[in-house]
Amino acid sequence: MARTLFIKTYGCQMNVYDSARMADVLAPLGYGPVEAADEADLVILNTCHIREKAAEKVFSELGRLKALKDARARQGRPLFLAVGGCVAQAEGEEILARAPQVDLVFGPQTYHRLPEMVAKLERGQGRLLDTDFPPEPKFDHLPAQGAQGPSAFLAIQEGCDKFCTYCVVPYTRGAEYARPAQVILDEARRLVDQGAREITLLGQNVNAWQAEGWSLARLLDALAEIEGLERLRYTTSHPGAMSDDLIGAHRDNPKLMPFLHLPVQSGSDAILRAMNRGHDADDYRRLVDRLRAVRPDLALSSDFIVGFPGESEADFQASLDLIASVGFAQSFSFKYSPRPGTPAAQLPHPVPEAVKAQRLDRLQALIDSQARAHLESCVGCVLPVLLDRPGRHPGQLAGRGPTMQPVHLAAPPSLFGQVVAVRIRESHANSLAGELAA
Ligand code: SAH
Ligand code: SF4
Ligand code: F3S
Repeated sequence: MARTLFIKTYGCQMNVYDSARMADVLAPLGYGPVEAADEADLVILNTCHIREKAAEKVFSELGRLKALKDARARQGRPLFLAVGGCVAQAEGEEILARAPQVDLVFGPQTYHRLPEMVAKLERGQGRLLDTDFPPEPKFDHLPAQGAQGPSAFLAIQEGCDKFCTYCVVPYTRGAEYARPAQVILDEARRLVDQGAREITLLGQNVNAWQAEGWSLARLLDALAEIEGLERLRYTTSHPGAMSDDLIGAHRDNPKLMPFLHLPVQSGSDAILRAMNRGHDADDYRRLVDRLRAVRPDLALSSDFIVGFPGESEADFQASLDLIASVGFAQSFSFKYSPRPGTPAAQLPHPVPEAVKAQRLDRLQALIDSQARAHLESCVGCVLPVLLDRPGRHPGQLAGRGPTMQPVHLAAPPSLFGQVVAVRIRESHANSLAGELAA
């Protein structure tokens, strides 16, 4: 029987990946994707718990969906509501208690069981909660991944053992788990057969990946052997797990793109210590120097938290100094948000909201100017661009350059999915425009 599924995704790339896999899991039951909740028989909210705002969004969305569910009940076409992801893992019981319209709550490690859970709902077997960390890795129970297009994501690692004091991920995703190399290589070959030209390896702590004596550098080498695969990336990395051979891969692996997301969070040693990051600011600077020594054109990206408890103006200035001295092609920055159950939530000396907001503005102004300078430095160059999406206007395609620059150009549809040489003519606030180089 044909049924319809709408998944709304919050949070990180891993959640985007998980949503695609949930759709793969439910396809054999007859669930096909639709574009909006009001066309769906089953709505899944795949949620994020990383900051307070992210978690709050779930409850306001559930309010809107309650009205839809009530209307649908009156029409005699039931709507099932499910909440998955990291809020579900952290606050499953509370969701069931606060939101009677929710039929099913499941965690990031149990979605391979969606077919049984949804079948139970369809049989009217009540409201369900499944937020175990099952001993068997869910990856062994997932069907083959559906086609993703020219730029594909492949989860190789999940979970985190780093326990930064502000972060919920070790609690919502559980302990680090590395998928076996052969399984990853098989999945990569399948993605390439389905049209992938670029694969981004995903993990919460991806550079901690190691399995059966293989290092991530060795895995990247084996992936680079796959014919038809042109580009490799990996994200997100922890500075403490950048091994010598992984640094070497940035020199030796011809398919590894010169871009690395390597979050540092703060430039203050006192704050880094309070965050339990396991490195100081100079460790990070030295690591960047070593990476740039082997790969001078490497573009870096980072995450920053402003207003961590106890952050003084001098601590904050140390973050600005680190940004100024390292130079980032792109960065993400956030106001510290206390998360229930994390050690930092117990720390004294919270930074007032107004100070957080003002620091965030100052830090963002600096990273934005660096990002614009990076884009401007590309004008006049010829860049290889993987055309993986439609452009803004008819007759255009868009894609990414080596350092993730978004590039728009006029190009025939036949070039979709190819890496083409593009002469960059202009830079805009967040993207580049160019033309096919002859
Ligand atoms: N494993 C990755 C991603 C973690 S979540 C990593 O270590 O980089 C993505 C980003 O959210 C983090 O890098 C951090 O900058 C931010 N973040 C995490 N917890 C936060 C909190 N409690 N308040 C504000 N920002 C937070
Ligand atoms: Fe969170 Fe730190 Fe783990 Fe990243 S490394 S997921 S910030 S605990
Ligand atoms: Fe959010 Fe969970 Fe990702 S908390 S950032 S969805 S791992």
